[in-house]
Amino acid sequence: MTLIFAHRGAAGTHPENTMAAFIEAEKAGADGIELDVQLTKDGEVVVIHDETVDRTTDGSGWVKDITYRELRRLNAAAMWDGKHGHCPIPHLEEVLAWLSSTRMAVNIELKNSLIAYETLEQKTISLVRRYGLEKRTILSSFNHHSMRLCRTLAPEIETALLYIEPLYAPWTYVRAMNADGVHPHYRTVTAEFAAEARRRGVAVRPFTVNKRNVMKTMFAYGVDAVFTDYPRQAKQWKEKT
Ligand code: G3P
Ligand code: CA
Repeated sequence: MTLIFAHRGAAGTHPENTMAAFIEAEKAGADGIELDVQLTKDGEVVVIHDETVDRTTDGSGWVKDITYRELRRLNAAAMWDGKHGHCPIPHLEEVLAWLSSTRMAVNIELKNSLIAYETLEQKTISLVRRYGLEKRTILSSFNHHSMRLCRTLAPEIETALLYIEPLYAPWTYVRAMNADGVHPHYRTVTAEFAAEARRRGVAVRPFTVNKRNVMKTMFAYGVDAVFTDYPRQAKQWKEKT
């Protein structure tokens, strides 16, 4: 059965990567949430997709150059014309503390492809352990060496490799990276790939699936989960299949 993961919360209807979006995901009946993490100037793990705050908030600049205190003043719902009020950028700890009172899983994407945040893996793992969420967490990244490091640091937490273009010799590669799963762009996923992954015990969770025909295809392939900006809609489509 394919699980529904709310991408950046329910980013299609709520400000992405905010508590408002994560709470909506739970209300929508999502099986899990996906979120992105970066480090502030003073080393706090914050939930934001871009390396800068420009696109999603009323501020500007690199996350790595802004202190946590300064960053908390920004409004991550700024482009929603007041519809969602003021939504601060969450600390990962705030999301995990809340998530531990729900039944949902979480996919934490480490945004460490462009910026080499030196302690992002250690700090993220430490927070996951603090809330006892090891068995409900999947760590992922486009930086596959970071995932190999996570596997070494926390063998009990699932890891997955993100990619957009198809992997060369995927099964050899996944084994070399010691990963549990792959998070591919949905365009690269075929019925044969999904079946072979299942046979090999490799989880497949394509992103970002918002269209009904693509969603139906992914359900038919029997992928483990899909990431979608519209978890409420996805649940309805799933019930009809
Ligand atoms: O984790 C799946 C997906 O979120 C990866 O792409 O750019 O939305 O972080 P992006
Ligand atoms: Ca992401």
